[in-house]
Amino acid sequence: MERSTWGTRAGFIMAAVGSAIGLGNIWRFPYVAYENGGGAFFIPYLFALLTAGIPILILEFTIGHRYRGSAPLSFFRMSGKKAEWLGWWAMFVSFVISVYYAVIIAWAIRYTLFSFNQAWGEDTEGFLFNDFLQLTVSPGETGGIVWGIFIPLAIVWIITLGILLAGVKKGIEMANRIFIPTLVVIFTIIVIRAVTLDGAALGLEAFFEPNFDAIMDPTVWVAAYGHIFFSLSVAFAIMITYSSYLPKKSDITNNAFITGFANSSFELLAGIGVFAVLGFMATQSGVEVADVASAGVGLAFVVFPAIINEFPGFNGLFGFLFFLSLTLAGLTSLMSITETYVAGFSEKFGISRRKAVAFGGGLAALISILFATQGGLFFLDIADYYINQFGVAAVGLVEVIMVVWILRKAGDLQNHANEISDIHLGGWWKFSLGVITPLVLGYMMFGLLRLNIFQQFETETGNYEGYSNMFTLFGGVAVAAGALLFGILFSLGKWHKNYRYYDEHSEHPAKEKE
Ligand code: ALA
Repeated sequence: MERSTWGTRAGFIMAAVGSAIGLGNIWRFPYVAYENGGGAFFIPYLFALLTAGIPILILEFTIGHRYRGSAPLSFFRMSGKKAEWLGWWAMFVSFVISVYYAVIIAWAIRYTLFSFNQAWGEDTEGFLFNDFLQLTVSPGETGGIVWGIFIPLAIVWIITLGILLAGVKKGIEMANRIFIPTLVVIFTIIVIRAVTLDGAALGLEAFFEPNFDAIMDPTVWVAAYGHIFFSLSVAFAIMITYSSYLPKKSDITNNAFITGFANSSFELLAGIGVFAVLGFMATQSGVEVADVASAGVGLAFVVFPAIINEFPGFNGLFGFLFFLSLTLAGLTSLMSITETYVAGFSEKFGISRRKAVAFGGGLAALISILFATQGGLFFLDIADYYINQFGVAAVGLVEVIMVVWILRKAGDLQNHANEISDIHLGGWWKFSLGVITPLVLGYMMFGLLRLNIFQQFETETGNYEGYSNMFTLFGGVAVAAGALLFGILFSLGKWHKNYRYYDEHSEHPAKEKE
C-alpha cells in the first residue's frame, strides 16, 4: 500500500510547528509559568526542554520515519505486542485532549466575534462565567447545552475533519502553510504593540522575577515536563504519526531542533506579550501585576477582554487579532491531535481515511458536547489537569524507559537517525533519554503521587469552588486511567492483514508484505 507523504520538507516542518504551537503556547504557558515560580520556572522549563522535550521529539520523529505507521503500528512494528499498547495509550491520551481542546477553540471563535464591539462589557469575569459559559451548576452536573458554544464547536469540527478528509498533503500540509505564516505575522503585531504599552516593563518584571522556592517543589517540575510535552506535542502520539508521512530521504534531527526552537520562541513571545499587557493593565488600574494576573482559563478569557477595553486605540482590531491567533494556533494543533487516531483506527481495522475520520472524529465531536454544557468548564478543568500530569507526562516517562531499557532500541534508532540527518546524535541523546529523564521525571512523579492526590489537587487548581472527591475521581482520575485501559484493550486485537506483517530489515519498509 502506498503511504501518504508530505509534499516538501518545509511542508512537514510547517505541520510539525503548527502542531506544536497551539493553545499550549498562548493560553496555557503564561499562567503555568506564572503559577510555578515565574522567572524561576525557566530553570525546570529549559531543563525539561533540552533533556526531555527535544530528545523525545527526535526519538518520535525517528520512530515514525523508521516504522512508518501511526503510533500504535509503529510500536507494534518495533517490538510487537509488548510495545503496541504504549502507542494506543498515547493515542487515547490524544483522543481525550482533542475533545476538550476543540471546545477552547470554540470559545476563541466566539471571542473573536465579541471583540468587534467588546460585547463582554465592563465586567469581563461575570460575562465569561454567567453570560457566556452559563456556569450555574455544581461541578459534576451538566445542565443544558450552551448553544453559543455548541455552534462554534460544530464549526471547529467541520473545519478540522474537513481538512483531515482532504488528506496529508492536500489537507494538513496545505492548511498549515496558510495558517502558520498568518499566525506568526498577526502575533508579532500584537506583541510589538504589547511591549510598547505604558507599564509593559512592570509586567515583564513580574513574569521574569524568580521565586526560587518553587524549584524545590516536585509539582513545579512535573508541571514543567508536562507543559514541555504538551507544548511540543510529544508523548501523545502526534509526532510519530506526522513523521510517518516523511519520505524515505528526510532529515530528522535538524527538523526536530527547528521545531523545538520555533515552538519555544513562540511561547516566549507569547509570555512576553501576555505579561506586557498585564503590566499595562496593572498600571492603568493602579494595582500590582499579581492582582490582575489570574490563573487558569481566566487569563485569556477574563483578563484579555478587560485589557482590550482599556486599549488606547483600535480596541476591536487588537481583540480580534488576539482571539483569531488563538483560533488559528488551536486549529493547526487540533488537526494533528485528531490525526493520531484517524491513522490508528484506519490501520488497525484496515478502513479508509474517510471512514476513520467519520468514526474517530465523529465520536470525538460527539463526546466534546459534554464540554459545551453549562457544567462544561468544570469537566474541562479536571480532565485537562489529570490527562496532562498522569497522561502526557506518564506516557513520556514510560516511553523513554520502554525504548531505552526494556526494548533496547535506542542504539538502533540513533543509527537510523544519524544515517539520514545533518546533525549527528551523540551520547548525550541516549543519556538524556535513558538516564536523566527517567531519574528526574520519575522522581518528581513519584513525589507528586505521594502527596495526597486529592489534597494536592485542591491546592493546585482549586480556582473555582473546590471539587468533591467523587468528581475528581470520575472527571479526572478515571479519564486518565481510561486512556491507559483503552490503550491496553485495543492492543489485544489483531491488525488488519495489510499491516500485520512487516519486514524490519526491508530496504523499503513502506511496502508491507502480504
Ligand atoms: N502542542 C499543542 C499545544 O501547545 C497541543 O497546544
